[in-house]
Amino acid sequence: MKLEALPVVKGDHNLSSYEDVYTSFNWEEAEKNFTWYETGKLNAAYEAIDRHAETFRKNKIALYYRDSKRQEKYTYKEMKELSNKAANVIKNTANVEKGDRLFVFMPRTPELYFIVLGAVKLGAIVGPLFEAFMEGAVKDRLEDSEARVIVTTPELVNRIPVDELPHLEHIIIVGEDVDTEKHIDFLSEMETASKELDIVWVEKTDGLLLHYTSGSTGKPKGVLHIHQAMIQHYQTAKWVLDIKEDDVYWCTADPGWVTGTVYGIFGPWLTGSTNVIVGGRFSPESWYQTIEDYGVTVWYSAPTAFRMLMGAGDDLVNQYDLSSLRHVLSVGEPLNPEVVRWGAKVFNKRIHDTWWMTETGAQLICNYPSMEIKPGSMGKPIPGVQAAIVDEKGQELPPYRMGNLAIKKGWPSMMHTIWNNQEKYDSYFMPGEWYVSGDSAYMDEDGYFWFQGRVDDVIMTSGERVGPFEVESKLIEHPAIAEAGVIGKPDPVRGEIIKAFVALREGYEATDELKEEIRLFVKEGLAAHAAPREIEFRDKLPKTRSGKIMRRVLKAWELDLPTGDLSTMED
Ligand code: WTA
Repeated sequence: MKLEALPVVKGDHNLSSYEDVYTSFNWEEAEKNFTWYETGKLNAAYEAIDRHAETFRKNKIALYYRDSKRQEKYTYKEMKELSNKAANVIKNTANVEKGDRLFVFMPRTPELYFIVLGAVKLGAIVGPLFEAFMEGAVKDRLEDSEARVIVTTPELVNRIPVDELPHLEHIIIVGEDVDTEKHIDFLSEMETASKELDIVWVEKTDGLLLHYTSGSTGKPKGVLHIHQAMIQHYQTAKWVLDIKEDDVYWCTADPGWVTGTVYGIFGPWLTGSTNVIVGGRFSPESWYQTIEDYGVTVWYSAPTAFRMLMGAGDDLVNQYDLSSLRHVLSVGEPLNPEVVRWGAKVFNKRIHDTWWMTETGAQLICNYPSMEIKPGSMGKPIPGVQAAIVDEKGQELPPYRMGNLAIKKGWPSMMHTIWNNQEKYDSYFMPGEWYVSGDSAYMDEDGYFWFQGRVDDVIMTSGERVGPFEVESKLIEHPAIAEAGVIGKPDPVRGEIIKAFVALREGYEATDELKEEIRLFVKEGLAAHAAPREIEFRDKLPKTRSGKIMRRVLKAWELDLPTGDLSTMED
């Protein structure tokens, strides 16, 4: 069922007239918002924190943090000092320098944020990892990037396969009772570290973040973002998040995901706003309580989370005072119209969908507060960005024709490279300077974009991007498994779940115990979110003559759809 468009909400929005700004804006204009436009001295962490600590925002709350054990707040001045201290610790103990890859492998705590900002102040490239990662996932990323330093916790340190990582020189531990023979004790070092720091000034094109993400083939790839991305972090935080001076902003994403760095760190702090970070696991009660306690005004989350909140029931949401909410946004997967309808009912707010990718580095296609929302549509390109639907040759298609969603090169936050993989980087582009997203979509006559699916086999489960190849590779490491094919199966709450089709080796019996064992094997070897929720045993899997597992055939069987052209399938 199609919903009627939700009308523009009148009010004072940072982007008040989309059409006017879209035609007149250019990115050079946005650079004037930064101190380096005047001084020539550039560093994204300086712009995010220190510059505010030198203004009227000095004693403004920059960070509210809470989890089940801690509840803390930090002003901009304190954030400046603590990130300086963290920078001094990693510089003095691990000799972190410009261009070094430093990984953070720890849960969301204030220390994580001091360290990320501190590392950026030294010009290091930060690689964030999900705390759910197991040994294999950690190894792939540290190995490919030749990381020198990792910061982690006593609970997670055993998942770092030190012996297999020749480039890894230092492990910094944030926690109690650190074995200082082997590891650097972050908290003790912080006690004596200096609050003063000479920031390392960088070029616009120097590395800032290295986010590993999954494609349909190959190992996860390292998407490198550079300091100049801050231009778009700032501008989208203004226009799309619509952040203003008195806002209390909460992005629910973990920094292991690009949303948690770009819109959990840089976007909000570049605009000088009060940023809420919640540690620990998802719970509807604590989420609602967070909004009520801090008076959250701008809230950025994901469809899976909204669907889980919806599943927790309207009675629950009605027990909290959420009237502070002014602007609610979503990213990561298609935002179902029924979720939009539910949001309008329980929050009395339109949920604004936003579209972007790890590779694009910031939001590109969005619903703005000053725009009519068509539920189910991702919205329109931000000013400064040109989007189109193209065919296989890069030719633009007219409205309502389905094709590949493409963006004209030249927006500031676009990935700078894929680490160690120029070929992969090049494969994103088509003649005509198009970056091709791999999402299939169409555009309507008003210029709104509508997501249809992935062109490749990438799975989106609970908002996390999982490459089927990575899971298949882990599966066939299990002694019982001869072949494995992995697909995303539609699921009402999680968007998709991971389903594995498995052919067993001689001598193994297809039992439920074995299924459980296999599931655990992937969970412990890769990550919990990558473990298949469903496993089906098959004698044989559909393959091409060249031996490639045909996931689209598996998917068609699973969903009772036509299998399409089978000419390349082996007999
Ligand atoms: C999907 C980083 C539908 C899409 C933010 C994209 C979406 C992939 C939306 C990127 C949306 C993201 N509607 N699908 N609003 N936003 N996606 O890099 O398939 O983890 O290519 O996300 O998520 O995933 P990534």
